[in-house]
Amino acid sequence: MLLLLLLTNAFVLLPWAGAGRIIGGREAVPHSRPYMAYLKTQNETHSSACGGFLIRPDAVLSAAHCVDKKGTVRVTVTLGAHNIRRQERSQQKIRAGKWVIHPQYLHKGFKNDIVLLKLKKKAEINDNVQCISIAKENERVRVGDLCTVSGWGRTSLDPPGSDVLREVELKVQEDKICQRVSSNYQRQSMICVGDEKEEKATYKGDSGGPLVCNKKAHGIVSGGYENPFFPKAFARISHFEPWIRKQLKRFSLQDIPCFPFSD
Ligand SMILES: *[C@@H]1O[C@H](CO)[C@@H](O)[C@H](O)[C@H]1NC(C)=O
Repeated sequence: MLLLLLLTNAFVLLPWAGAGRIIGGREAVPHSRPYMAYLKTQNETHSSACGGFLIRPDAVLSAAHCVDKKGTVRVTVTLGAHNIRRQERSQQKIRAGKWVIHPQYLHKGFKNDIVLLKLKKKAEINDNVQCISIAKENERVRVGDLCTVSGWGRTSLDPPGSDVLREVELKVQEDKICQRVSSNYQRQSMICVGDEKEEKATYKGDSGGPLVCNKKAHGIVSGGYENPFFPKAFARISHFEPWIRKQLKRFSLQDIPCFPFSD
């Protein structure tokens, strides 16, 4: 069954290699997703890119595997961007002062693939830079819900990533569809998504971006690319909400300024 699925997909995929999209999406209206963050992770010799999203003026959520790399020394967050290769006036570039990877994160199977980054300074909130609310612990998406993901990731199976922000709609699927293709799927902490009919998907470079359903972030684009299109497992934010709140509180406590009104 698994082999059949893979073969079918390999077949469908061939005519698509090289076609430009997020995969199968469209360019986002510039600044229509003002919560989107572009993350650049660097070590001494390499840099890589991911997505993320602003949930507080000084806090960004992303996927743990984006920063859990050998020798990561610096993470830079760009907010307010549309074309990431240009120096747009709307852009705010802020370094992450620190980040907390979920203690149960496992690279194998991308379990608990979530990281909270604390920015060195607060972003300036304006038309182009805004926060998005996250799903509460008791708010679960329903099978069949249509959600949107956006990112600067690859638009085909080959590099490079996209210059401009792109978006695509994906449907929430039954857990058993993901369970069938991966023994690492965990229904409590993951959301199974995808479009079973068309070649629509997130791809390399989109990791860390939000799955937005009904104007709230419900998922985080996670890893696993054996099958580039369908289905995909994202981190389920409602499951992690208590952990996120706790970390945000910690961030604030560490933030007490030396002098009153100095912020
Ligand atoms: C930097 O990252 C690259 C790619 O992930 C890795 O191969 C390399 O060993 C890392 N360098 C250091 C100094 O950690």
